[in-house]
Amino acid sequence: MPDPVVAIAYRSALEVISAVEPDVAEAIVGELESQRRQLKLIASENYASPAVLLAMGNWLSDKYAEGTPGHRFYAGCEMVDRIETLATDHAKALFGAEHAYVQPHSGIDANLVAYWAILAHRVEQPVLDEAGVRHVNDLDSASWDQLRNELHSQRMMGMALDAGGHLTHGFRPNISGKLFDQASYGVDPTSGLLDYDAIAAQAREFCPLVLVAGYSAYPRNPNFATLAEIAHDVGATLMVDMAHFAGLVAGKVLAGDLDPVGHADVVTSTTHKSLRGPRGGLVLCNEEYAPYVDKGCPMVLGGPLPHVMAAKAIALSEARQPSFASYAAQIVGNARALADGLLRRGARLVTGGTDNHLVLMDVATSFGLTGRQAEAALLDAGVVTNRNTVPGDANGAWYTSGIRLGTPALTTLGFGPGELDEVADVIVEALRFTTPATSAAKAKYEIDPRVAQACRGRCADLLAHHRLYPEIEL
Ligand SMILES: Cc1ncc(COP(=O)(O)O)c(C=O)c1O
Repeated sequence: MPDPVVAIAYRSALEVISAVEPDVAEAIVGELESQRRQLKLIASENYASPAVLLAMGNWLSDKYAEGTPGHRFYAGCEMVDRIETLATDHAKALFGAEHAYVQPHSGIDANLVAYWAILAHRVEQPVLDEAGVRHVNDLDSASWDQLRNELHSQRMMGMALDAGGHLTHGFRPNISGKLFDQASYGVDPTSGLLDYDAIAAQAREFCPLVLVAGYSAYPRNPNFATLAEIAHDVGATLMVDMAHFAGLVAGKVLAGDLDPVGHADVVTSTTHKSLRGPRGGLVLCNEEYAPYVDKGCPMVLGGPLPHVMAAKAIALSEARQPSFASYAAQIVGNARALADGLLRRGARLVTGGTDNHLVLMDVATSFGLTGRQAEAALLDAGVVTNRNTVPGDANGAWYTSGIRLGTPALTTLGFGPGELDEVADVIVEALRFTTPATSAAKAKYEIDPRVAQACRGRCADLLAHHRLYPEIEL
């Protein structure tokens, strides 16, 4: 439904921007046009509402507000206090959490806050208590050296990258891998599913301080009650990174043992994926961890971004509406329709299907392509995806053997299961007519140009029925 107020807001904003740097205004318009042209199946992206987007473009950005509401290191933070409190209250109510911290600037930052909160509570606090001091500045240099060594000799267990884990779960390219002695748990090589008995045995052997659960590319729903039992049996803190599936938790599609809140000691998330908010992160925890989580800034975060916290408050409030529960259920229904459509057309999917918002297609065994070739060919066909490793991937993390497909964005546009079946047909058609450029090529490929053009036409037809931001006419 066209909404002249939103259109006027954006036209005016673009005029103001264009007067200073027209290239930026042009790029903003160009991005909208590009997003309107492509079928977005990137599992970690979405389309936030105009209210969420507009809340970020204002003078809240000018304010410094280190600290927490009512306890700031800067004067004049009354409005930021109001906004942060509102976002926090919405997060607590939405997820049923004892405590929420909405300052993290991204998912990586939320995980860093969580790791350091766990270390502060479990490693630093006992050293302070033993020394009879309240603050690290009061430790003598021998105790300080000892604490620093202890902080850097802790263990964590996280999901293997090729099983769907994330770099921030203890892998060397990320600070978490340099900080912790890490061991990865994988998935059962035959079923592709988490094997809880194997994870429990590994945890008993490795004795981690932190057990990390959560994923970027696992098409099923972990059982967090079981993982909590495994963690607590070995004295580990369970941290769940729900960056990908926070929208499904918010919409109560994931409940009971599948809802990490209440089972995990600390839960982290992004706010921009299935939760459909602004780019950012948040941390939820029980009261025990709250004072440590709240020290995220300045422990590892720069000053909070009040304009983004305002947008988080709006998105979290949107996620508390009944319509968000229907949206979350539809994400999963659409993912199932996509998976079924791909399977019926002969594609091989990791774990044989999906129970959540994403599908992991093995393009090496299905089409004789690397993930990199399939990703590029699908872009030629009008479909935006990203390549991803599959368990035991022979092509490595750069070329990969898989394509990850997610439905949060198309569901926001209003796509239904019938249209996702059509999307499956476009994908399979494009990849059937794609070949590696040579038998050894891992990046170069050839797609039949007539097929690519026909697929682009079909994507355009689908998108014509579901215009992105229909209220915005520039
Ligand atoms: C599970 C998981 N955690 C954390 C992140 C990092 O989020 P961000 O890009 O906001 O730092 C991602 C992003 O892809 C993710 O999938």
